[in-house]
Amino acid sequence: MAGTIVKVSGPLVVAGNMQDANMYDVVKVGREGLVGEIVEIKGDLASIQVYEETGGLGPGDPVVSTGKPLSAELGPGLIESIFDGIQRPLDVIYSKTGSMMSRGVDVPSLRRDKKWPFRAVVEKGQKVTGGDILGTVQETPVVNHKILVPPGMEGEVLEIANGEYTNNDMVAKIRTSKGEVSVGLMQKWPVRKPRPYKEKLPPSLPLVTGQRIIDMFFPVAKGGTACIPGPFGSGKTVVQHQLAKWSDADIIVYIGCGERGNEMADVLLEFPELKDPRSGQPLMKRTVLIANTSNMPVAAREASIYTGITIAEYFRDMGYHVALMADSSSRWAEALREMSGRLEEMPGEEGYPAYLATRLADFYERAGLVRTIGSEERTGSLSAIGAVSPPGGDMSDPVVQATLKIVKVYWGLDANLAYKRHFPAINWLLSYSLYHDNLKKFLSEETAEDFQTVRIAAMNLLNKEAELEEIVRLVGKDTLSPPDQLILEAAKSIREDFLYQNAFHELDAFTSIKKQYHMLKLIMEMYHHFHKALESGCALSKLTELPIMERLAKMKLTEEKDINLFETFQENLKKEVSSLVNK
Ligand SMILES: Nc1ncnc2c1ncn2[C@@H]1O[C@H](COP(=O)(O)OP(=O)(O)OP(=O)(O)O)[C@@H](O)[C@H]1O
Ligand SMILES: [Mg+2]
Repeated sequence: MAGTIVKVSGPLVVAGNMQDANMYDVVKVGREGLVGEIVEIKGDLASIQVYEETGGLGPGDPVVSTGKPLSAELGPGLIESIFDGIQRPLDVIYSKTGSMMSRGVDVPSLRRDKKWPFRAVVEKGQKVTGGDILGTVQETPVVNHKILVPPGMEGEVLEIANGEYTNNDMVAKIRTSKGEVSVGLMQKWPVRKPRPYKEKLPPSLPLVTGQRIIDMFFPVAKGGTACIPGPFGSGKTVVQHQLAKWSDADIIVYIGCGERGNEMADVLLEFPELKDPRSGQPLMKRTVLIANTSNMPVAAREASIYTGITIAEYFRDMGYHVALMADSSSRWAEALREMSGRLEEMPGEEGYPAYLATRLADFYERAGLVRTIGSEERTGSLSAIGAVSPPGGDMSDPVVQATLKIVKVYWGLDANLAYKRHFPAINWLLSYSLYHDNLKKFLSEETAEDFQTVRIAAMNLLNKEAELEEIVRLVGKDTLSPPDQLILEAAKSIREDFLYQNAFHELDAFTSIKKQYHMLKLIMEMYHHFHKALESGCALSKLTELPIMERLAKMKLTEEKDINLFETFQENLKKEVSSLVNK
């Protein structure tokens, strides 16, 4: 039975005669069948957020409920795809209509014509349960797509296929307590509902990003949460891109949420060109993109983060480490605010709805390192990293404040650093990570026992530098004692030779965790040897003329394969200092 439109207010449509529909049902609106979702029901009136341009809709037009919630299609073909906020493939829409903005085009999220090689791993007669792997599809050279028994299903395998199949085909028949059920390569899942897992585990592995300030000082764990708030132009998008490119996750889900189209274009142009330093494969071969740029309908932006995180959870369930980036969660919150305003809900702070904080918490809560469902013991992780763009860089902004209460890592971008072109412009005095304790063991084992000591000592120098700068501002640098002047020299080296990292330089864009350790260690060794030399009467000016200073300035360009050179650098440092001392 069809309802009829009573009112159209931008992306919000109110329809009458909708008593049979349910909250969050997907509906087809108007003669073109625009996609919408019911967000409020009062009596027989349903408020619908419409994911496409609503121009031309008017009272009396039909509204039909599909009776199903907004769902994502999950199966082979996700990787390398570019979807809009409700998982429509942008390239297909574009080729069909020549525009990204077309309306009412009914295209499946995943291609139905392509045949995928399915290799069964279960046998007839085997008992299976939700999350068990029925078989695999080598989707790209780096992604082995596991075809899972859908959550909640349990029974005995009656039939299992092997060979080439499309997303329309069934590959298994399972006898469940409710009868025989066919399972295809593809399954669906309602995006607003978290996919189940057995248990959340404390995260103990770092998400290695190759970004030195992050991995060394403010690391995020695999399965962790982080946010990057920052004013206009401070480098939020560049950081998110760097993470998407270089993180050691198996799968990347990148959500361009309400940002400019050209930023998404950068991703599309760059990612296929870039090679993973670990696998040697193009980075796109492990990436899913969701683009809901600022020129696309606002309501689909609200949905985009749920579409993205559902896809991310699906790969987590296969036992993969998935990293999700959302740029920017502020644009998502603005979409929420716009819909809330049109629903005439009571506004909270800055006009955002009172449920902003809960919605954000529910979203980040879907991150984690988990024991997946299924009879086999498997862990997978979903790390969620959101950029936040508060107006005017104002940190008291409700979206920033609500996010900070949830996430465990804060990378605070600083307009002053960006202005001085110190990139990434993450302020080391304000940022924090609550994962140091979780990651301590792994990082020490992976690099060196004194990993934490070196990190803490370096951060101490940066803190002291900030204190000393106050004094310098008041009375000048010359009044400082030589040891204090050395602190300034060493802190400067940490900033310029270690923290400063050019995202656009081939050798500098990514640094392995081992190399990061060696770099910082070399700076700290310089500090210690210089300190001792000062005590035996050497002048700081002589020390800073030593070749080691030049070496430090260039060490970031030492190639990963030449990492052993750092031993030589250390030896040279000792020799240089002792030759000065013994003069
Ligand atoms: N790590 C980096 N290395 C080199 N340059 C950088 C780096 N980070 C940022 N930049 C420079 O800063 C510019 C702005 O960065 P970016 O677009 O990421 O800012 P943003 O915070 O996303 O801005 P907006 O608020 O407009 O979205 C970049 O175009 C680049 O020139
Ligand atoms: Mg940006």
